[in-house]
Amino acid sequence: MVADVGRILIDRDAIATRVAELGRELARDLEHELGNGGGAPGQVVFVPILTGALVFTADLIRELNLKLSLRVVAVSSYPGTSVESKGAKLAGELPRDLAGKHVVLVDDILDSGQTLGLIDELVQQQKPASVRICVLLKKPAEVRKREVHAHYVGFEIPSEFVVGYGLDYDGYYRNLPDIGVLKPEAIQAGSAGAGA
Ligand code: IMP
Ligand code: MG
Repeated sequence: MVADVGRILIDRDAIATRVAELGRELARDLEHELGNGGGAPGQVVFVPILTGALVFTADLIRELNLKLSLRVVAVSSYPGTSVESKGAKLAGELPRDLAGKHVVLVDDILDSGQTLGLIDELVQQQKPASVRICVLLKKPAEVRKREVHAHYVGFEIPSEFVVGYGLDYDGYYRNLPDIGVLKPEAIQAGSAGAGA
């Protein structure tokens, strides 16, 4: 599996350092908000977007010494050539108890923006007290099809297809501890590649 990786873009130590920093930033901002009459402890809900956000979220929430709950949401993506008008579709239920909560949407990567744009739109309809968007990776604004503001960004990366630390190619490589780029021979022609 590791042999399929042509180049490591971000190694595990750099990821761990940055995730700890993001955790501190989030804890500070959420505590500040709760301290300013924003609600009682326990009003914070992290919403990871499955499956890609799984590894990142597991590490991130353990950096937060804060009373919080988790509600997962699943999204399926379509290849760019699909006839579907939207690039992302809700797969399963959206959590329904987000009204008045401080919500943190977590995803592995902000690419076209269609996934986070859709989830943000649906979550906002429930009138949460606040919504923050936290992504580990962010591709350049030029690739965005939908405008999304990520409040917390781990790393800005070039417009390359990356795997590892939760990110997949064709469902695989999520368990790689580093983030890297696959060798061309590991990418089969004709496969769409990006699972959510
Ligand atoms: P969106 O294009 O911003 O809606 O991102 C959709 C989803 O595609 C993300 O949540 C990722 O799971 C996946 N994705 C986007 N870019 C990459 C990549 O470079 N590697 C692996 N998955 C990706
Ligand atoms: Mg994803």
